[in-house]
Amino acid sequence: MATRIRTASDEAIREAAALLQQGELVAFPTETVYGLGADATRDSAAARIFEAKQRPSFNPLIAHFVSLEDARTQVEFDSRAEAVANAFWPGPLTLVLPRLANCSISRLCSAGLETQAVRMPAHNIARDLLTACGLPLAAPSANLSGRVSPTTAAHVAAQIGETLTMILDGGPCGVGLESTVLDLSNPLARLLRPGAITQEMLMEVVGPLEVVSSDHVPSEGAALTSPGQMISHYAPTLPVRLNAGDVDQDEALLAFGPDVPIGAAQTVNLSPTGDLVEAAARLFDALHCLDQKPLRAIAVMPIPEEGLGRAINDRLRRAAAPRPPVQG
Ligand code: TXA
Ligand code: MG
Repeated sequence: MATRIRTASDEAIREAAALLQQGELVAFPTETVYGLGADATRDSAAARIFEAKQRPSFNPLIAHFVSLEDARTQVEFDSRAEAVANAFWPGPLTLVLPRLANCSISRLCSAGLETQAVRMPAHNIARDLLTACGLPLAAPSANLSGRVSPTTAAHVAAQIGETLTMILDGGPCGVGLESTVLDLSNPLARLLRPGAITQEMLMEVVGPLEVVSSDHVPSEGAALTSPGQMISHYAPTLPVRLNAGDVDQDEALLAFGPDVPIGAAQTVNLSPTGDLVEAAARLFDALHCLDQKPLRAIAVMPIPEEGLGRAINDRLRRAAAPRPPVQG
């Protein structure tokens, strides 16, 4: 069946909701990236996500809710989790929390862990869709496992369009990087993935936290507490060269700031003024765009390691990491 890209009108959202209720896959926009959505309570629907993304089954999925109240029916919110949710929801923050005994989210979404990741998105289309279908939605980023996340409907169509029934088009995503992932299932809070809700913002609410560095490579057999932290991720097809001060004529250049080396076959500047928020919003589209040329590599200029720059550099380090034959 050919994928239908539909402008996210009220009617299209109603149709998408009906498809989700039947166990189908629908891609939809959130404020971070496009998600590949399915009924989180249905095993067969969750299983289809893993199949469509070619995602290893040990890498768990986030369940999306329209309200904190709904999320509370599935996972255990202690006072820290309540405080963080009140501060940053709806918004680009995912919380990893203990599953309640009567949790109805498919165990496949937890990938064998006793925790479930939950998030309340801020994007209107995501929220309207959640309301219309009346279900929690499992939704990983709508890309093939290990590849660059999608920030437009066209990115989704290009990577996994064949495997899903509908893509709701809501235009480009505002944040452009996946949500911050914070694990609150243990006494010490752990930042598993940096994002637009920064470490500094979180520490104001939860106090000290452990940061799982992006260089951390989980060992094969160990129970993965942070399964998405596989080092090679977000990989374009071209090799990625970081901290480029100059560029060759057979390279594409991912630039940042006003002083850009010349000579690249093609250049995209994430932010000529050096604005990290603008750079984050453009990052994945720029990688998608530069990756389509028959060039030797993508050279990337240095990005400051501060605020949102940390989340950008986390994605870039993974894009540049050595790639195993089978990617996570
Ligand atoms: O912004 C986002 O979070 C997007 C949009 C669509 O909401 N979704 C997204 O999902 O990025 P995904 O599956 O691509 O990334 C979820 C991350 C993965 O690194 C996964 O390993 C981690 O969250 N995760 C999910 N459940 C977890 C759990 N129970 N414990 C630890 N990490 C978990
Ligand atoms: Mg992802």
